[in-house]
Amino acid sequence: MQFDLTAEQQAVQARARAFAEQELAPLAGPADERGEFPLHLVQRMGELGLLAGPLKPEYGGAGMDYLSFATVYEELGRVDSSVRGFLAVHTGLVSLCINDWASEEHKRRYLPRLASGEIIGCYCLTEPNAGSDAASIETTAREEADAYILNGEKIWITNGNIADLAIVFANRDRTLRHKEICAFLVDTATPGIWRAKMPGQELGHRASDHARIVFQECRVPKSALLGEAGVGFKIAMAALDHGRLGVAAGAVGVAQACLDACVAFTRDRKQFGKRIADFQMIQANLADMAADVAAARLLVYRAAALKQQGRPTTKETSIAKLFATEIAVKAASDAVLLHGGRGYSNTYPVERYYRDIKGLQIYEGSSHIQRIVIARELVGRGE
Ligand code: CAA
Repeated sequence: MQFDLTAEQQAVQARARAFAEQELAPLAGPADERGEFPLHLVQRMGELGLLAGPLKPEYGGAGMDYLSFATVYEELGRVDSSVRGFLAVHTGLVSLCINDWASEEHKRRYLPRLASGEIIGCYCLTEPNAGSDAASIETTAREEADAYILNGEKIWITNGNIADLAIVFANRDRTLRHKEICAFLVDTATPGIWRAKMPGQELGHRASDHARIVFQECRVPKSALLGEAGVGFKIAMAALDHGRLGVAAGAVGVAQACLDACVAFTRDRKQFGKRIADFQMIQANLADMAADVAAARLLVYRAAALKQQGRPTTKETSIAKLFATEIAVKAASDAVLLHGGRGYSNTYPVERYYRDIKGLQIYEGSSHIQRIVIARELVGRGE
């Protein structure tokens, strides 16, 4: 077992950290306040090789491994969950899904452009009546001679309004639940697609683009099928194994940011005639936070290392997502408390971390769903 990152992995981490600290950090707070995704950073992330992640060079990648890519998610997550969330969807759920399941022609058509940021991807699974129960999607795919006709409504689609390419999940026969779900690669300029921002103001991730997308008699050619007809649900779940690792690593980043902020603040802030960092109650809080961050990071690294070896990672990824998001929720809550009144206002970034982290505990499968996935791997499924 090797605990140190290799020189190559450290170089990727350093590149991601420099981008996050120098280019992303100055924009994160203002973008959150304006509720606007910093779109111009997408091409920049492409130039830096951050969007390509572990794609092979022939598809626009630089041969990064999954553990290096986990450090990219962590470094972005440490600064801005909205941009890290963009990456988990664009690369985790879309590029890596295409990489795993698409034909050679589709890989060559889409992956280099996704890797450079020329086009943006989104993943359309969730619906008003199908959140945790993803197999119950109501969007239909009606087969006609040389085409499928899509009808239905998707919600909470990250990158939905800015995406050029959507992976859309739709069912050919809803009576057969997941067994007839198909995945399609859909150009978002196709007639019959209507997109809008999700209604309401969100608790966190305010710079993220979250869309409601309606498909009305949207005709896609049969060649738009991703993988075989009827394996769409497996494709959706396997993509989530990639995306959830991104969320887990992003949560480690948020927890680390909370720890860093608390260390700096408690060393500086004086009450009762001394630094609050000198009070044992504060020290215990910081120590617990540090232990949680270290444990969560190791779980993320383990899942990433197994993925790199091509081994099954569903359980390990869900364990990492469950643990990392739960400890990050606690870290963010404690960070606001340790900052006292200052933590309650957006003059300190812990206020944003506290709002953002709740999303990580919910999307790409809530903590309840991660527990189901883990438990099923342990005890199997009853009749
Ligand atoms: N990889 C490959 N195949 C998988 C799989 C995986 N990780 N997990 C399940 N499958 C396969 C099963 O083997 C099974 O195959 P067979 O038909 O051959 O037996 C099939 O899929 C059905 O599996 P289940 O019976 O376990 O399915 P289920 O209906 O009981 O659901 C679930 C399981 C884990 C609860 C699943 O529905 C789930 O993960 N729900 C959460 C959905 C989710 O995370 N949504 C978030 C969407 S993305 C988002 O939030 C935001 C955004 O913008 C992207």
